[in-house]
Amino acid sequence: MSMTALRLAVVQFTPEFGEKQKNLSRMRELVEDVTADIFVFPELCTTGYFFLSRDEVAKAAEPADGPASKFFRDMARDKNAVVAAGFAERRQKNLYNACLIVVPEEKNPYVYRKTHLFYKETVCFDPGNTGFFVIEDKKRDVRIGPMVCYDWRFPESARVLTLLGAELIVCPSNLVTKAWRKVMPARAIENNVYLAVANRAGLEKRKGEELLFKGNSAIYDLDGREIKKAGEEKDEVLLTEIYPSKTRDKSFNAINDVLTDRQPQHYGPLTRIVK
Ligand code: ACM
Repeated sequence: MSMTALRLAVVQFTPEFGEKQKNLSRMRELVEDVTADIFVFPELCTTGYFFLSRDEVAKAAEPADGPASKFFRDMARDKNAVVAAGFAERRQKNLYNACLIVVPEEKNPYVYRKTHLFYKETVCFDPGNTGFFVIEDKKRDVRIGPMVCYDWRFPESARVLTLLGAELIVCPSNLVTKAWRKVMPARAIENNVYLAVANRAGLEKRKGEELLFKGNSAIYDLDGREIKKAGEEKDEVLLTEIYPSKTRDKSFNAINDVLTDRQPQHYGPLTRIVK
């Protein structure tokens, strides 16, 4: 088995709402001296998070080949690295809370549109229509599965990505609770995958309502160990080595295997209630 190590960088930072240029500059500054094979940035990292209406999103959103996409493509080429980052996407009349994944050798970025919308996202964005998918990066020998923030509350997200072959799940996030910190390690263990959560920090106040983003970005290995963790408040870059080939054998003893032991015939449709 080849045991190629990949350097994974998870970038925690504090976007300013509506300050796209400043946010892009800050992100560039944060990674300037970082060498890695994969970079993960938070959800909606170019615009900030707390949109209150579709009109606000429509003004800030960009097509998947717009300036933010060009910024991340340039970064991917400069760093010779895959870059995953959340952004507000406009496609015709639709608005998506999306994640770009740029592979430097490929012309077009991949776009994952967040499946499960959280809180006021439900009035500001359209539900994602891409579904879950996995990107096979042959050069780096890794399969990357994106999900975004609140997708974490649905174990199906990580499971579907794993069934599609994900070895590293990347999760750009703007997390406001702490419950995810108990759940993400479980997603890593039950799927035998690496999981990288790039959260943001800071407070956003909009029309009398506040959202406090709780940092603590983290990288979990396939045993659910938190191999790197950021603080709650500061911008920082977590850097570690991962070994994607280790995730390919899903057995954990001589007999059991977390994928082949599944019994999907008993997982749905749920028609029988036993009292
Ligand atoms: C979230 O989905 N931003 C909590």
